[in-house]
Amino acid sequence: MESAPESGETTTTATVDPCGVKPTFTDEEEKPMSKNAKKKLLKQQRYEAKKAEKKAMEKEAKKREKERKQREWEEKLGMAATEEERQKLIESRKELRKERMEQRCQEKESKLERLKKARLDGGQKIVIDLEFAHLMNTSQLNSLVQQIMYCYAVNGRCEYPAHLFLTGCEGEMHNHLQRLPGYEKWVIDKENRSYIQAFEDQKENLVYLTADSETTLEELDPKKIYIIGGLVDRNRWKGITLDKAKNQGIQTAKLPIGSYLKMSSSQVLTVNQVLEILLKYLETRDWKASFFQVVPQRKRCGDAESESDHHDAEEETNGERDDVELKRQCIGA
Ligand SMILES: C[S@@+](CC[C@H](N)C(=O)[O-])C[C@H]1O[C@@H](n2cnc3c(N)ncnc32)[C@H](O)[C@@H]1O
Repeated sequence: MESAPESGETTTTATVDPCGVKPTFTDEEEKPMSKNAKKKLLKQQRYEAKKAEKKAMEKEAKKREKERKQREWEEKLGMAATEEERQKLIESRKELRKERMEQRCQEKESKLERLKKARLDGGQKIVIDLEFAHLMNTSQLNSLVQQIMYCYAVNGRCEYPAHLFLTGCEGEMHNHLQRLPGYEKWVIDKENRSYIQAFEDQKENLVYLTADSETTLEELDPKKIYIIGGLVDRNRWKGITLDKAKNQGIQTAKLPIGSYLKMSSSQVLTVNQVLEILLKYLETRDWKASFFQVVPQRKRCGDAESESDHHDAEEETNGERDDVELKRQCIGA
């Protein structure tokens, strides 16, 4: 989903302003692409091509499956001995569809109830900080929006969802999100202010999650408000969230990945992976199980105690999910 890094990205530097928010670019952006950057770009392009091919194959397989089911249905109807039998088959199919629709409506209602309860009744507060739009290109922004969709869908499926906040939700970021079908109805707190303003009376409870922190998260404290950086950058802006939190004088913590997993690449995960790990942990209170269920196989080499096969690492992705199913879950909140 994520596009190739732009030319010259490895040499781009930025100076972060005292608030740690808006970097200013230097002339280094103009430099030609390094050998390493070219290699990375090629790898990314191959990955995108493979992904597009896989998506096309899946679409084709779904189409064939739909046609097969239609043929099966027509054959069944054709085998009906009388018109009465034929009508019975049509009626029972209608009934089945109605039941499925009702079941979906019930599921949707109970999901909304769970989300509302989390909002009113002390669900773990988790913020997605959306103040990095200026550091992403359109494709990265689209990728982030998709990750946020995953976050919303996964949270809705949890028995005890988290109380989710989108902060810094304005400008280009807001425009991108607003294009999502059903977004207006999402049961999520959308805040155009920064989390630092929105939670100014609870600053001591803010914890910015960042892989660069020296502090390891041991458990989730219901009083704390955990912040995830809304950034798709293939870690181009390494340390940006740590610097931001330090400048703002708020706590930071990294997930305890190193204690449970050996990663085949960096320990920097995507926004939706981090949220899913937190949600699994809230459900199981077991970090190891949470990491194993969420971190894609290709990103790990095994658990921290045992050696196993090395899997080729692909960097930030959303994981292979069913996009159509995801959209269905997000539409109409
Ligand atoms: C793709 S990462 C962004 C990396 C970015 N360069 C940075 O400095 O945060 C998206 C966000 O997920 C969270 N995250 C990713 N890996 C993490 C880890 N191992 N521990 C804690 N938080 C993590 C952080 O909040 C991070 O900002």
